[in-house]
Amino acid sequence: MTTYNIAVLPGDGIGPEIVEQGVKVLKAVEKDYDVTFELAYADIGGAALENGQDPLPEATLKLALAADAVYLGAVGDYKWDTIEPERRPEQGLLQIRKALGLYANLRPVKAYKPLLHGSTLKPEVIDGIDIMVVRELTGGLYFGQPRERGKDRALDTMLYTRPEVERIAHRAFQLASGRSKQLCSVDKANVLASSQLWREVVQDVAKQYPDVELWHMYVDNAAMQLIRNPKQFDVMLTENTFGDILSDEASMLTGSLGMLASASLGEGKHAMYEPSHGSAPKYKGQDKVNPIATIMSVALMLRYSCNLPEAADRVDQAVADALQAGHRTYDIAEEGAAIIGTSAMGDAVAQAFLKTKATV
Ligand code: IPM
Ligand code: MG
Repeated sequence: MTTYNIAVLPGDGIGPEIVEQGVKVLKAVEKDYDVTFELAYADIGGAALENGQDPLPEATLKLALAADAVYLGAVGDYKWDTIEPERRPEQGLLQIRKALGLYANLRPVKAYKPLLHGSTLKPEVIDGIDIMVVRELTGGLYFGQPRERGKDRALDTMLYTRPEVERIAHRAFQLASGRSKQLCSVDKANVLASSQLWREVVQDVAKQYPDVELWHMYVDNAAMQLIRNPKQFDVMLTENTFGDILSDEASMLTGSLGMLASASLGEGKHAMYEPSHGSAPKYKGQDKVNPIATIMSVALMLRYSCNLPEAADRVDQAVADALQAGHRTYDIAEEGAAIIGTSAMGDAVAQAFLKTKATV
């Protein structure tokens, strides 16, 4: 029996209710595999502020550092919009990413056949989409110094160093090597110095991966191409801010931001799994939102932190099966479809998981 210690950080807004659905799936995995998930819950973001703590409490960080994986819901609530910027809930998220050294953020974007007609894009444009966005997560504008906010003047710094670009580029090339061997690196090298370095370093790293075809695209063009002809992309490599924006855009290729999972990985065993969407405070506690991104983040956890690739495949399959069976939360419902809530979707996927046993 293998035990994995998972730090569970539900966070704010819809965080707790979506994480609960992922936990249902972890329980289903325990039934079929010789594995135990030891779940330890802790506060982060607004939930921590609420209890008079910092956005990333020391105890939470300690737990996360000791865990085999961190499972996070979402952070942020309107309530904290006017708090000093360094105590905003989002700081908790940025701090934990930095403290755990999670520089590689993987966001898989897949089209599901049953959802093709619920998308705002034409079915033939998105049918067969399978993109991996590799977003650098601990550099760029999010962390660059200096950073100043005056009354009439403000400054952020888009800073990258060669080693920072090298390590994320290696990740992207390795991933591309195991997929269709194509890598599109996104930058704004026609304008930004940080992008000129980015492109140069990615080209240098490419020499070690002769089997992977590399091409470069300016970020404005990439934003347009993602909608015009997304099938041209397989692995997309981006710096932090570009990846934040393009991954939200790419999520619409799946039909909804509620379908976009993510894995944030570092050099060692530290890793965090969270949906790519935010805390949607206006939907909090309504049993309304789509938990699939959070559930598919469990699949990523099983794959990257728990050495259970078969269980991970089965979770992905269970999501596809639940969709095929017609289960729809409001965000992915085609016209006339019956709509279910967060918890019912969690149950549907967990049950579908147990049924996938024979086929995978
Ligand atoms: C994401 C989110 C976060 C980010 C926010 C909540 C700080 O948008 O994970 O994409 O910008 O990285
Ligand atoms: Mg984002």
